Amino acid sequence: MTLPWGYRYLMCPPEHFGVLYEINPWMHREVRVDAERARDQWDGLKTTLEEAGAQIELLDPSPDLPDLVFTANAGVVNGNQFVPSRFRHPQRQAEVPHDVAWFEAHGFNVDWLPEDVHHEGAGDALPFAAVLLSGYRFRSDAASHAYLSRLTGAAVRSVELADERLYHLDLTFCPLDERRAITAPDGWDRYGRRVVEALVPERIDLDLDQALAFCANSVVVGTTVVMPSCPPPVGRQLEAWGFDVVVCPVDEFLKAGGACRCLTLALDVTLGPQGGR
Ligand code: ARG
Repeated sequence: MTLPWGYRYLMCPPEHFGVLYEINPWMHREVRVDAERARDQWDGLKTTLEEAGAQIELLDPSPDLPDLVFTANAGVVNGNQFVPSRFRHPQRQAEVPHDVAWFEAHGFNVDWLPEDVHHEGAGDALPFAAVLLSGYRFRSDAASHAYLSRLTGAAVRSVELADERLYHLDLTFCPLDERRAITAPDGWDRYGRRVVEALVPERIDLDLDQALAFCANSVVVGTTVVMPSCPPPVGRQLEAWGFDVVVCPVDEFLKAGGACRCLTLALDVTLGPQGGR
């Protein structure tokens, strides 16, 4: 059975995208972003998602907020509830009022995490079957998970991230359906690997190079998997499982440490004790 969510996304046009500061190991201020290429790649991703059957909502871009394009980090969506992120780095904290204004204007109820814990939204929290899998260490705090569970009612399973280059959960984990996921075990500590193995019966385990090419940072719309790149063995397994792969190059955004999934936030997620549907 295909995922019950993933047909409605929030995206933000890359008008003001750039690498203006360094808050992850991929970002280097001296690297220039080609604005036109970034726009073409972003348009390509948006069109691909629409062709796969998704509806795209737009957040207005804002000067001085180059990472606002990475809407995955806006917060956690649960039905008509929105829990805004508590960003670790001051450079991204100014995004929050923009995100909250959009969600309020679109009929969501906003519930806040305490000010002193960090959590970076869907970048570090993805629904799988009946639970919300959430990563912690580089951006989100382990302590945020209990608050997130209390606010949303979701059963949260915690995974400690282990490689600074894979600093958000969505660089290591991509739910495909109720039983399957693309996973990057190198990104987790030993206990985290056991958590995911127990949770996900069928996995495509990426090796480290594939993970560092952001293969797990893919967007799933029904049976279509939209990937920043796809190594042949991964593509073969996906096709054997009945998925169609569409590769959407987003290398301008890799310069900031983000790919396809980071550029989207699913708006049709409902968590809760029933989980993921
Ligand atoms: N430059 C952004 C940051 O470091 C990239 C965010 C990537 N987002 C994600 N969901 N992995 O915060």
